[in-house]
Amino acid sequence: MVSSSQESTNSPDKINSTEGYSVVNCHPPREDILNEVIAGLTDTPKHLPPKLLYDHSGSSLFDAITRLPEYYLTRSELSILSGIDNDMRSLVSPDAVIVELGSGSGEKTRHLLDMLPRVTAYVAVDISASALDHALSSLAERFPNKRLTGMVADYLTPFVLPGDLEDMPKLFVFFGSTLGNFEPLEAASFLKRIAMSLKPDDALLIGIDTKKAPELIHSAYNDSSGVTASFNMNILSRINRDCAANFIPEYFYHEAEYQPGPGRVAMFLVSRQDHTVTVADRDIYFDEGERIRTEYSYKYSLEEFHSLVAEAGWSVERSWTDANEMFSLHYLRPDLV
Ligand code: AVI
Repeated sequence: MVSSSQESTNSPDKINSTEGYSVVNCHPPREDILNEVIAGLTDTPKHLPPKLLYDHSGSSLFDAITRLPEYYLTRSELSILSGIDNDMRSLVSPDAVIVELGSGSGEKTRHLLDMLPRVTAYVAVDISASALDHALSSLAERFPNKRLTGMVADYLTPFVLPGDLEDMPKLFVFFGSTLGNFEPLEAASFLKRIAMSLKPDDALLIGIDTKKAPELIHSAYNDSSGVTASFNMNILSRINRDCAANFIPEYFYHEAEYQPGPGRVAMFLVSRQDHTVTVADRDIYFDEGERIRTEYSYKYSLEEFHSLVAEAGWSVERSWTDANEMFSLHYLRPDLV
């Protein structure tokens, strides 16, 4: 979330300048992560924050997911993006700064920067330093004349953009249906907070997965090569490393189910047996078959998404889908009061 420099926020602790781009580190402190892990594992039912899926290995595994034949989301979003150049050029102010929340591999960003050649500055905000480095180094090769900045930050908490960009119009970009990883109330308050921090010329381009045949959704989160399972299981090794824990990954297996009622995928790690895990001196008991929820991924019909954003203080200026309505992309403007 963007805040003005007066608000309290995570302050940058390190700035790396490499050829072609710079990175500011506002990563949440380790104690915050440990507190969230303990809170989630001592709750009933157990859960973990999905952002912990994205350490170095998790980000590479997610990148591999986006190329899986079953994972239609990324391909569909790219196909929408590749057909909206003219629309985007007429919607976006030529001197806008692009601020991307959760930048991932940078492939969609490349398309966006190709279609908006007059944009001079791009800021990527991501929880994973390695994903940022990977994305920005390839963008720097392709766009040597643009100012490229990375911010290692949890975009759910306030962060401050470089001061000299403050007065320029901003296009916030939130690709990949990442908003679907929030519960609807959380999604609405996240969108509300962004809307309230924006100026009249700012906008948000957001990608959202649509509702469709449950079998297609199920396969996207249960791929035949097991990459999603490895992505999910990796959270345990990450917690072992960062929270002094002793999870034995083999004691768990991946499960992901589409729940048509709430319209979401729920992803779990299921304990194969009764056992105890220690996390920073806390004993956590698991029964055989007990599940830790690691992620929700909500899917929205166009109507549902339009009413969610209207309640959160946005007007829909354009919505696009691919030919099969597998995915949707929306250009929103804040309703300023
Ligand atoms: C990042 N996010 C939108 C992905 C999703 O589809 O919810 C994460 C993911 N989880 C399993 N596969 C992909």
